[in-house]
Amino acid sequence: MPKPQVFITRHLTTKLDQLQQIATIEVWEERQPPPYTVLLKKVKTIDGLLCLLTDQIDQQLIEAAGTSFKVISQMAVGYDNIDIPVATARKIPVGHTPGVLTDATADLTWALLMAAARRVVEADRFVRGGEWRTWEPNLLLGPNITGATLGIVGFGRIGQAIARRAKGFDMKVFYTSKNRCDQELERDLGVEFTAFEHLLQEADFVTIHTPLLDETYHLFSDRQFKLMKQSAILINTARGAIVDQEALYQALANGEIAGAAIDVTDPEPIPTDSPLLSLDNLIITPHIGSASRQTREKMANMAIVNLIAGLKGERLPNCVNPEVY
Ligand code: DGY
Repeated sequence: MPKPQVFITRHLTTKLDQLQQIATIEVWEERQPPPYTVLLKKVKTIDGLLCLLTDQIDQQLIEAAGTSFKVISQMAVGYDNIDIPVATARKIPVGHTPGVLTDATADLTWALLMAAARRVVEADRFVRGGEWRTWEPNLLLGPNITGATLGIVGFGRIGQAIARRAKGFDMKVFYTSKNRCDQELERDLGVEFTAFEHLLQEADFVTIHTPLLDETYHLFSDRQFKLMKQSAILINTARGAIVDQEALYQALANGEIAGAAIDVTDPEPIPTDSPLLSLDNLIITPHIGSASRQTREKMANMAIVNLIAGLKGERLPNCVNPEVY
């Protein structure tokens, strides 16, 4: 019997030996993702797809899949680029990579929080621009991090990992989430559950850790920025579209909030003529939350394990839509 065919939408550094034993692999080797038309053609003949968050796996694409198509394995924890209801209706399991990127993402969130508070990027530009003349009492001042109030929006794995790190900074930590977590965990992490609006009003730092869903699209817009402290700093390492970028620009340009640091934008990449890029009180990184070598290796391996299970008709160890079984 011929081996099943799989398509991997980008070059991965991880070894593919295990997959190679059971499947014929085609890898898209270019730096840019495969165009949608290429994917549309591929899904007609392949048995499994290993994709990234840059691939649009929508209704048209899933419905175009051939009869042998068995599995979508995404190398990311988020899967807002995939039409899950349509995949479920076609009984196609979708795999993802939760857990392994929690710490790396929480670490980058803290790096951004601290860089924004202490104006690290601005300071670097200042030095390179030849502006460092002497030690000045009022040069590049920022707020205290230790002892400040942190607001965590979304309290899954990553939100909780943020809270754990906040303990080292003696922070008061509020969180808001669809479901309140149990009181023992709250005590253990030293966090207090509160309403979204109260969190916005109280926090010196607000950090976003919710998935992108219909109800979280533009969760942060004009009204939310007006509720925040003028001294507040917003961090987003979740998904760009949770923040209305036009409103973010206005809030930062008009001093409604003091600063922001975002690892995600809408769209990605951010257009080079975006007015956001003209702001000194904004740090932008190119969606690198999970970008530690070890984490990316684990994500790739987990995606391969999910893919292999799907090809064999076994239950995916990390399945987004277990209703297919
Ligand atoms: C994810 O996994 O969803 C991140 O955004 C990329 O690692």
